[in-house]
Amino acid sequence: MHLLKRRYGCHSRPTTFITGWTIFVLFCIACYSVVFKSHASFPLHNKDAAGSPMKGGSIPNAPGVPIYVMMPLTSVSDDGQLKKDYDGKNISWILEQWKKLGVEGLMVDIWFGLVEKEPRQYDWKPYIELCQLMKSANLKLQTVLSFHRCGGNVGDRCYIPLPKWIFAVAENDSDIFFKDRDGSADDEYLSWGIDEEPVLMGRTAVQVYQDFFISFRETFREFFGNVISQVQIGLGPAGELRYPSYQLNKWTFCGVGEFQCFDKYLLGRLQSEADKHGISEWGHPPYAKDVGFYNSSPSETLFFRDDGGMWNTRYGDFFLNWYSNELIQHADRVLTAATQVFFDLSNPNNDFTGQFHLAVKVAGVHWHFRSKAHASELTAGYYNTRYRNGYSPIFRVLKKHEATVVFTCMEMKDNNQPKDCYCSPEDLVGLIVRSSIANNISFAGENAVSFYDVESYRQISAVSRSYAVTKGKPMEAVTYLRWPEPIDIFFQKDTLSILGQKFFDFVRSMAYDQAESTDFPGL
Ligand SMILES: *[C@@H]1O[C@H](CO)[C@@H](O)[C@H](O)[C@H]1NC(C)=O
Ligand SMILES: *[C@@H]1O[C@H](CO)[C@@H](O)[C@H](O)[C@H]1NC(C)=O
Ligand SMILES: *[C@@H]1O[C@H](CO)[C@@H](O)[C@H](O)[C@H]1NC(C)=O
Repeated sequence: MHLLKRRYGCHSRPTTFITGWTIFVLFCIACYSVVFKSHASFPLHNKDAAGSPMKGGSIPNAPGVPIYVMMPLTSVSDDGQLKKDYDGKNISWILEQWKKLGVEGLMVDIWFGLVEKEPRQYDWKPYIELCQLMKSANLKLQTVLSFHRCGGNVGDRCYIPLPKWIFAVAENDSDIFFKDRDGSADDEYLSWGIDEEPVLMGRTAVQVYQDFFISFRETFREFFGNVISQVQIGLGPAGELRYPSYQLNKWTFCGVGEFQCFDKYLLGRLQSEADKHGISEWGHPPYAKDVGFYNSSPSETLFFRDDGGMWNTRYGDFFLNWYSNELIQHADRVLTAATQVFFDLSNPNNDFTGQFHLAVKVAGVHWHFRSKAHASELTAGYYNTRYRNGYSPIFRVLKKHEATVVFTCMEMKDNNQPKDCYCSPEDLVGLIVRSSIANNISFAGENAVSFYDVESYRQISAVSRSYAVTKGKPMEAVTYLRWPEPIDIFFQKDTLSILGQKFFDFVRSMAYDQAESTDFPGL
């Protein structure tokens, strides 16, 4: 873990996978796609339990999609200072450039580990300063309340652990963190087994989150609506609503991952669920001999193999239902707390309805998507198989709280994925988009991996156009990962770099009715 302390610039809103050779492969693919532009298209063909296939046709004068840019992960330093100098360019000047070139706003991570260094003592100073600068620049801000550790996921060039006082609790009780079946604790995020257990120096995890929301509301109320346009709530590792089933120190793309419910709190909840149904003997997670290891392939395991796999038995269904429900209930509990804080109908001073959206990020687990069992989604907590839509139940909870789903992978193409992993980022994006529309929730997109190539811009553009056609209105926003470091990748002395021009062509084309745009003739 200390290796991670080497700080470069902190980064990341990772999603997915990737190590060693995969990064190399993706790099080659990125180069390849710059050279050979192929035709961007959206999977209009696949069907799912929730929605009908997408319609073709033209966009009815759709207004554009606002583009946001993610700030560097280390835009606030460990000692709580807002970073103001980026490779010799000051932040005010950079904000001016974003605005001038048509960007709607920025996204910033607000780190639990930096803000609440002592229980219930919050340091918001650098983020207030950022809001003031954003206001002067007339830019919007998507704030991400990041209750996870920065570091250890794809693209993470940072190390911001959870607060020290959480680790003081963990010294006595390591089960506050998720554990795999070897009992190895993952200190990226608190297990939702303690959402309702008052083990954090007298508070439950949900109370810790809610107190954080209240302090955030009191501090930032003047910025809601005019600056802050979205409040994303980090609901798991990497800020995504998922289990830490593919930790990069144990897992390589595209293993099935491992279930993470071996802390005593989740194990206890599983047993009581089984008892409740009169099937006490099912009150245990699947055994190692059946599910394999982080890096197993589905066909090597009794549980995940396509035909005759245990996933498709009554026990398998019982377990997977419970496992995914725990994740869904976590979203419901934290969103309930957030809704009470930000949309308090009994107190007009605390009711910010219409000023901003709450948002939740869902991970883009696209490997093994073409198999029947969808092993890697199952271990991540999405009970989504060829026969069952696992995202709709999540979206129903988001609908209940009028929260936006944020989904990544927008730039990814199937034909850039390794052949032997049954990947389909495009079909996954299609499923998520259709399920979000079927459940009438707002949708915002992101890319999963940093890129600068035109091909990837085209893919995002194609997805958002298909979205607008199907939904009849555009996506809430697309957030580009990420603010380039060094910044002169985009902004040179007095001019835009070539890569900068490509990015701003994309921003412009997204701002208009894309059906009539000539920037992307492929669409
Ligand atoms: C920021 O940089 C711009 C251009 O380099 C300069 O004109 C401006 O005075 C700087 N502002 C501050 C506060 O340093
Ligand atoms: C850990 O346990 C010890 C001994 O029971 C106790 O004195 C200490 O306060 C506990 N620490 C925390 C953070 O709960
Ligand atoms: C969809 O949700 C919005 C609120 O977000 C509501 O105004 C609208 O009536 C809903 N549409 C349908 C078809 O339920």
